[in-house]
Amino acid sequence: MIIDTHCHLDFKDFDQDRDGVIDRARKAGVNRIVNVGSSIEGTRRSIELAKRYDIVYASLGVHPHEAKSVTDKTIDDFRALAKERKVVAIGEVGLDYYRNLSPKEVQVGAFKKFIHLAGDLKLPMILHSREADREVLDILRKEKEKDQTGVMHCFSGDEDFLKECLDLGLFISFTCNLTFKNAKNLREVAKGVPAERLLLETDAPFLAPQEFRGKRNEPSYLVYLVEEWSKVLGLSKDDIARITTHNANRLFKLNIEEPSEIAYPIRDSLYLNITNECTNACDFCIRYYSGFVKGHNLRLGKEPTLEEIQNAIGDPKRYKEIVFCGYGEPTTRLDVIKAVSKELKSNGVKVRLVTNGHGDLINSRPIVKELLGLVDKVSVSLNVDTQEQYNKICKPNFGADTYKKVLDFAKDCIRNNIETEITCLDLPDVDIKRCERIVKELGAIFRLRRMGVTG
Ligand code: NI
Repeated sequence: MIIDTHCHLDFKDFDQDRDGVIDRARKAGVNRIVNVGSSIEGTRRSIELAKRYDIVYASLGVHPHEAKSVTDKTIDDFRALAKERKVVAIGEVGLDYYRNLSPKEVQVGAFKKFIHLAGDLKLPMILHSREADREVLDILRKEKEKDQTGVMHCFSGDEDFLKECLDLGLFISFTCNLTFKNAKNLREVAKGVPAERLLLETDAPFLAPQEFRGKRNEPSYLVYLVEEWSKVLGLSKDDIARITTHNANRLFKLNIEEPSEIAYPIRDSLYLNITNECTNACDFCIRYYSGFVKGHNLRLGKEPTLEEIQNAIGDPKRYKEIVFCGYGEPTTRLDVIKAVSKELKSNGVKVRLVTNGHGDLINSRPIVKELLGLVDKVSVSLNVDTQEQYNKICKPNFGADTYKKVLDFAKDCIRNNIETEITCLDLPDVDIKRCERIVKELGAIFRLRRMGVTG
C-alpha cells in the first residue's frame, strides 16, 4: 500500500478519464489519495471527489497564486466545509515568490489566516514554498501553535531549509522530480530526510517521473518515486511504502489499521519482537514516545508463543539474517531464543542477538555457552562510557554495578568466539572516543548509534 498525499485530480486534465486514473492508482497499490485544494472552487471539487471515490480524501486550501481571492468569508466557508467527512488537511497554502501572481503582502496575509484556521481546526497543513523559504519559516515560527504540524510539499530547498523544516516538526515530501536525470543536487539533499518524516506525493498532473517526463502525471506513477527513494535512503521498496504509509496515516489520521508485529522485515533482515519487557528504562528508548520502528508497530498485546513466532517468520531463507531485537530484552525469553535459533540454524540462516547484556543477571546463570552454535553474532547495547551515566540514563533493574556486568557479558561472548559488537549512542554527555576505546580494548566491534534512529 502507498499513499499519494498530494495531487489535483479535480483539474481539467483528468476530466476525460478520471475513473481510469483512479483504477490505475488502485492497481499500482495507491489506496489513499489526498486531493489538494488549490483554489476556492478546487476545494469544493476536492470534497466532491472525496465523496465519489472511497480512496480519495480532501484538503482545503488556496494556492498562494490565488491568494488575492481569499477573504474573511473564504475562511468562514472553509471552516464550514471542514466539517465534511474525509477532510484531512488545510492546504496547499504558503508563499510563491517565483511567479508572484498575487502581491507578496496579500500572500502573507492569506497564509497567516490559513495557519490560524488549521490551528483552530486541529488539522495538519500542506505547505507550499517557492523562492520564499526564509519568509515561510519566519511566518510559521511566529504564527503556528506549538503542536501544529504539517508537510513541506514539493520540497526544493537546500540542506539548511531541510534542517529548519525538520526542527519545526514538519514532514517532508518531494515530488517525482526526484527521479529526473538532472536532479543530482536534489537527491543529495534528499539523503538528509529521515524516513520517519517522509511522505510520498505526485502533485499530479504536474511533474511526471523521468519515464514520462513532460507528460501528464498521475497517482499510479508514485511507484517510480518509491523506487527512487529506496535508492536514495538505502531501504527496500517495501520499507519505503510501509514507512510513508505509516507517516501519512499519522499526519492525516486516515484510520488505516496497523496491527502489531512479531516478525518485521527491514531491508534484507528479519527482526523478531518476542517481548516488550526490558530490564532497563533508558531515557532515550523509542518505546516511550513511539510504538513504531521503521513503520512497524512493535507494541505487543501479549508475549507471542513459540509457535506464533515460528509462523511469523515464515521461510527464513528469504533473509540475510534473523535478528532478535524488538521493544524488549530478548534474553528474558532465553528458551524461546534457543528453540527458534535451533530451527533457524538447521536452515543455515545467520542469527544475531541484540541485547542489553543483562542475560546472565536475568537468568541467574552465565548464558553465553548456551548460545554457542545458535547465535552467530551478538550486539550489546552499552550506550555510554561510565557506570554513573549508565545508572542515570539506563536505570537498570539490577543495581549500581550493572554496567560492569554488561561488560562481563560482552567479554564472555568474545572469549567464546561469538562475533561481538558493542554499540554506544551519540548522546550529548557521552564521550564517544572513550566508548570506542573501551570497546576496542575488549576486542569487540564498535558501532555508534544515532539518537532517534532505530532500525
Ligand atoms: Ni500542488
